[in-house]
Amino acid sequence: MASRVIPVDPFDLVVFGGTGDLARRKILPALFRRYCAGQMQAGTRIVAAARTEMDSAAYREMVAAALDEFDTPHAHDADQRRAFLDGLHYVTLDATGTQGWEELAALMSRDRIKAYYFSVGPALFGPLAERLHEYGMSDDEARIVVEKPFGRDLESARALNLTLARHFTESQIYRIDHYLGKETVQNLMAIRFGNMLFEPLWNSQYVDHIQITVAETVGVGGRADYYDRSGAMRDMVQNHLMQLLCLIAMEPPAKFDPSAVRDEKLKVIRALDPVVPNDIVRGQYRGVDDKPGYAEHVENAASTVESFIALKAHISNWRWAGTPFYLRTGKRLRARNSEIAVVFKEAPHSIFGAEAGRHRNILTIRLQPNEGIDLGVTIKEPGPGGMRLVDVPLDMTFTEALGPDAEDVPDAYERLIMDVIRGNQTLFMRGDEVEAAWAWTDPIIADWEASGDAPFAYDSGSAGPEEALALMHRDGRRWREIRL
Ligand code: BG6
Repeated sequence: MASRVIPVDPFDLVVFGGTGDLARRKILPALFRRYCAGQMQAGTRIVAAARTEMDSAAYREMVAAALDEFDTPHAHDADQRRAFLDGLHYVTLDATGTQGWEELAALMSRDRIKAYYFSVGPALFGPLAERLHEYGMSDDEARIVVEKPFGRDLESARALNLTLARHFTESQIYRIDHYLGKETVQNLMAIRFGNMLFEPLWNSQYVDHIQITVAETVGVGGRADYYDRSGAMRDMVQNHLMQLLCLIAMEPPAKFDPSAVRDEKLKVIRALDPVVPNDIVRGQYRGVDDKPGYAEHVENAASTVESFIALKAHISNWRWAGTPFYLRTGKRLRARNSEIAVVFKEAPHSIFGAEAGRHRNILTIRLQPNEGIDLGVTIKEPGPGGMRLVDVPLDMTFTEALGPDAEDVPDAYERLIMDVIRGNQTLFMRGDEVEAAWAWTDPIIADWEASGDAPFAYDSGSAGPEEALALMHRDGRRWREIRL
């Protein structure tokens, strides 16, 4: 099975913040991979713009070094690499002043797709949008791509939405949540809505609870400044985990199109109950052996910002009333392990008697690593004697099932940038969605700030604080293991 590459029309892409970390780690390598895959046609122009004084030649060298460091293995040759680098332009530009804007405007083509990637802090979104308009670069073919964090609360997100709306319509604004670009996250929709098997059982009558875990082994090291102003709630829960929750809980959209999908996601967020303090556990990792703790990474050693969160959420609608959703994410945990587990209820009556034990089916969607799905089913334990039951996995690892193609899936950024060029907003967040997500997280954060409570400490390399285990134990449930 060969993956299909459909070339897109030539376009102009400007990466504001083109010398920054995200541009070097993700955006440029993603563009390079799409270039090598043959998706970009001759004439496509990629321009980086940033405050640093340098010329295009120096920029190309910088990108070459970034590719050496961050590009993942894929088929290409030296000529392709040279040609990609040669096609890059650089403009020294002052986002809040006038320097560089005329030069940039002169590079833009008329009558073709123009994408402006705001890979900069949100404080510059307004000035950039304004200047794009002022210098005649915001015509109907223009679209802007904005990175998270989209604000730090409802008020700032609303202000950002209003600022962008001054010069761009909602259909021109692409708010990135890179989790939506992950292949397996999209697979959530395929599994739910492409199969007859699951959807009839996908409700509180059959589902006992759902667990969403995004466990990371990385600490906050190089991004301590940013992270200590955000914490896990703003950095992960308000966006990535919320998006996973939406895809797992939403009603079937009538079509796989931007409005239908985003309308359904929004309904889920709006149906979330406020979370009571007793249903949340915050944690902060402490150092173990030679591994530094959170406090050693950040400037304020007494910081009470959380690097771990576990919480129980309820969705008040017909489908989910009574089925809790347990969300958990953290840094410096035992393993990099992200999955969604749909834990079904036990059969209402066991014909095999008490000695057969209690069993339930669990559908696990593994997001990373080792992407795949696993359905735990109950069968008879082999052998003579009584009827003893045992749970076994029906395990499908995508790379095994789909062959080499599944190993070469595009990175989330490759997929999302190409969707911007194609004008497909399905996998981007709409303004009202982002605001609704903040409206849910704001009171939780306000409670912590009012209480001043410190998060629970947990060891680097563990599964998080003990208190997170208790959050489920008291409901008679257990977290799934964070496996190495
Ligand atoms: C980013 C967060 O959005 O997502 C990081 O800011 C986090 O803190 C990262 O590490 C996780 O992304 P991935 O793709 O590695 O799971």
